[in-house]
Parts: sequence; C-alpha cells; structure tokens
Amino acid sequence: MVDKHLRSSDGPTGAVDMTPYISVCRAHTESLRAARGAAPQCFVLTFGCQQNVADSEKLAGMAVDIGYEITDAPEQADLILVNTCAIREHAEKRALSIVGQYKHLKEKNPSLVIGVCGCMVAQEHRCEQLKRSYPYVSFVIPTSVIYRFPQYLAETVTKGKRVFRAEEEHTVAEGLPIRRESSYRAFVSIMYGCNNFCSYCIVPYVRGRERSRAPEDVIREVKTLVQAGYSDITLLGQNVNSYGKDLEEPCSFASLLRRLDGIEGDYILHFMTSHPKDATRELIDVMAQSRHVAHSFHLPLQSGSDRILSRMNRHYDRAKYLDILDYMREQIPGIAVTSDVIVGFPGESEADFEDTLSMLRRARFDMIYSFIYSPRKGTPAAAMEDQIPREVQNARFDRLLALQNEISGEANALLVGSVQRVLSEGKSKNDAETYTGRTAQNKIVFFKEPCPAGEWVSVHIDRAEAFALHGTVITK
Ligand code: SAH
Ligand code: SF4
Ligand code: F3S
Repeated sequence: MVDKHLRSSDGPTGAVDMTPYISVCRAHTESLRAARGAAPQCFVLTFGCQQNVADSEKLAGMAVDIGYEITDAPEQADLILVNTCAIREHAEKRALSIVGQYKHLKEKNPSLVIGVCGCMVAQEHRCEQLKRSYPYVSFVIPTSVIYRFPQYLAETVTKGKRVFRAEEEHTVAEGLPIRRESSYRAFVSIMYGCNNFCSYCIVPYVRGRERSRAPEDVIREVKTLVQAGYSDITLLGQNVNSYGKDLEEPCSFASLLRRLDGIEGDYILHFMTSHPKDATRELIDVMAQSRHVAHSFHLPLQSGSDRILSRMNRHYDRAKYLDILDYMREQIPGIAVTSDVIVGFPGESEADFEDTLSMLRRARFDMIYSFIYSPRKGTPAAAMEDQIPREVQNARFDRLLALQNEISGEANALLVGSVQRVLSEGKSKNDAETYTGRTAQNKIVFFKEPCPAGEWVSVHIDRAEAFALHGTVITK
C-alpha cells in the first residue's frame, strides 16, 4: 500500500462543514496516541464495485486526516470501517457475516469502534437489522453521505451514541482527502447515483439520483494524478454517458473526455460504465481521435432478448445495441468490448435465453461478467410472479459461461504473435516467478521478466487463454 495523499480539490463544497467534528476526532486520536505511545489504527474493508473502492479511498483518506494509520490487520484496529455492497444477496450476506465475525474483536477490545458504510446501509431494513442484531456496530454511513464520517465518529466517541440516521441528502462533496491504494492506477468518480431504475437493480435506491461533478473539478483531479505519476486512470459513474446533463452548464461525457485527453503526459484513460441507450457516436468518435483513451469499452447487454430487455426497463433492443457495437468496431478496429449479462431474470424462457446466447455469438465480446439474477427488496423485478427456479438459473449460467469461454479464448488467440503495450502490476499474487500486467484493452498478461508495478513494457504475446495472455517482454 502506498502512503500517498492527494486532495481531489481545494475544499469541501456542496456539503455540511465537518471542521468542528474533525477537531473532535483529532483530539480523540491524540488521546489514544498519548495513552499508548503509537498512532491508533484503522482497517477499511471494501465490497462491491470500483465506486466503492473509490469511496473507501476517501474513507481511508479522512481517517488518516483525523490521525489514524491504516492497517491491513483488523485485529490490531481501533476503528473498523466495512464498506458494503447491495447489488446481489450474496454480497450482503458476506458483509453481514464479516461484521458478525468482528464481534469477538469488540469483546477483546471494548474501545474498538465499528462503522458499516456503503450501499447496504442505505436500505432501511438493513440499518434496522444492524441496529437490532449487531449491538457492537457504532454507526452506519450510507454512500451518499460518506463525507459525514467525522461527524458520526465524533458523536460515537464523545457521547457514546450509536448513530443510525437515515440521511436523505445527496450532495457532491469535493475536497475530501483521498488515500489511494495504488501509486499508478487511480479511480476518479465523475458522477454519483443513477436515474435509470432498471427493474432488477438496487443502485438508484441506494445511491440516489444522478449528480455530476463540475468538469473543472474532474480535470483538476486528473491533472494532479498525471503530474503525480499515475499512468492508468479510470473515470467512474453508473452511467457515464449521462454525465453533465444535470449541471447548470451542461457538458456531455464526450466533451469531458475530449478535454481530459488534452492533458499532457504518459497515461491511459478508461471509463465505466456505459448504458447502451445513451452511448453516442460522438463518444466513439472522441475515443477514435484521442491520444489517451483506452481502446476498450464496457457495454452491459444484460439480456439478448428484446422481451426481457423491455421487462428489465433497459430502453434498448438488440438492433440498437448492435448498431452502436458495430459502429465502435468500425471506427476503432481492435477495440476490446466487454459486457455484463444476467441469467434467470423473472419470466426468462428457454427461447429468451437462446436469444442471449445468439447475441454472445454475434457480439463476440472479449469478456463478460455474468450474474445469476438476485431479487432485491423494493425493486419491481423482485415482485414479478414468474421467478425462475434456481436449478434452471444454474444450468443456464453454466451454458452461458461455456459459450463465452470459447469466444474469449478465440478473441485472445487473435493476439498471439502481436506486441502489446502492457502496464506492469508487478509480481503475480499466486506465483512469485511470474509478473502480471494489463494491455491497453485491459487484458491480463503474464510474463517472466521482472518489472516493477506501474511501468510500461512491450510484450510479445506467445500464448492465449480465455482469461489471460502469456508473453515475453521485449523492451522496457
Ligand atoms: N451501472 C452499471 C451496472 C452496475 S451493477 C450498468 O448499468 O451497467 C453491475 C452489474 O450487476 C449490472 O450490469 C448487472 O449485470 C448486475 N446486476 C445488477 N443488479 C443485479 C441483480 N439484482 N441480480 C443480478 N445481477 C445484477
Ligand atoms: Fe443499475 Fe441500471 Fe443504474 Fe446500472 S443503469 S446502476 S443496472 S439501474
Ligand atoms: Fe454494489 Fe453499490 Fe457498487 S450496490 S455494485 S457497491 S454501486
């Protein structure tokens, strides 16, 4: 972990002033430090998507700002923050089970403070559950108010209060300190929330409506990162294609990207996620002409059946999806396209599922993330009558994976013999003899030649698998 701090902008805006609470928290960490002669420790655990990773970097940044050191060891922590996800039932179960395991840490160290943050606790029933059944949890912080962390911590440590407040506030808090996990790869949220209400999805309920950051704030943050040596920057939003529509002076995502591309330096820009209904030709044109935007596109399909797409409230059909897909392949030859697919959505017939398989054959994605539909309390799809039995979902999921593995393997095989520019991620976690990195299309590459994380290398691709490429470094 790299102890590097960057501020996302000059000062908090659009949010309640936290300064008095920050002072209280600093006094608290000072007294802990004085009592034991060492800095108090904070452990942050993250579930969910990159937006949550980015939020955790802000939580960690705020923790450091008020006097904590970040630790990897929960058993040494004075403060534990669990940043949760609610996208599927499994994600919630894992988070609750981990929080449950921290009970014995609290028993050993009664001054330990445990906070649960993120999407799961933006749901009333989960807050109630934590309040009732997890008495050792001191506070919850829903995603949209993470900047209030010093306030909740201050209330906990000074008044011994448990804070379970249902905040209905959705702001864009600028200026929070950020403690980035990596010294070369950075996530930059450009907007928060979602307006789409896909019928299966909890996100609009837990993250609120779309709020875009001002383009100047985004540009300043990216510039600072590039100057600090970051070489891989990912812009984040639930649907980046609707970026800027809510701003006083509207600014399209394509024009934001064009302005960011003007920043000088040796870096690559990724973005996610794009909703097919809003992905524009203008955006593809900007990508084609850009110097820094990666030739990769994540375009979630969800289903290949027009009937299911309509029940999912996705506002596009196969034809519209293929139209934008074909355009990007035409304008940016070699572009890597990845997607998300849900199997077993309520009412999905065998014929609907076959339509999804036929779309995979036609679209030839480089890779997909596939999910078994998980009913989410409060969403329209959860109340649909024709839920699909688990065995049918599992069988379809296996068929989907088998087909996609074949397609991914074939797509990767086309790269054998080519030379790819690869950003090294350093030593592989599983094999000390091997190094890993990613191509500009975000494909994983394994190679043997030592190369520190964060460096660009040219790699000759010798061999391909469905999920990775293997090669030899030819130049650094
Ligand atoms: N904003 C992004 C997706 C965020 S969630 C977008 O619109 O593409 C990431 C993925 O999780 C979704 O694309 C979808 O495939 C999957 N997902 C969301 N809700 C789900 C649910 N209830 N069950 C199963 N998968 C789900
Ligand atoms: Fe969920 Fe749809 Fe919004 Fe994506 S676009 S976050 S799938 S509601
Ligand atoms: Fe999960 Fe929230 Fe992301 S529900 S997928 S952490 S937006």
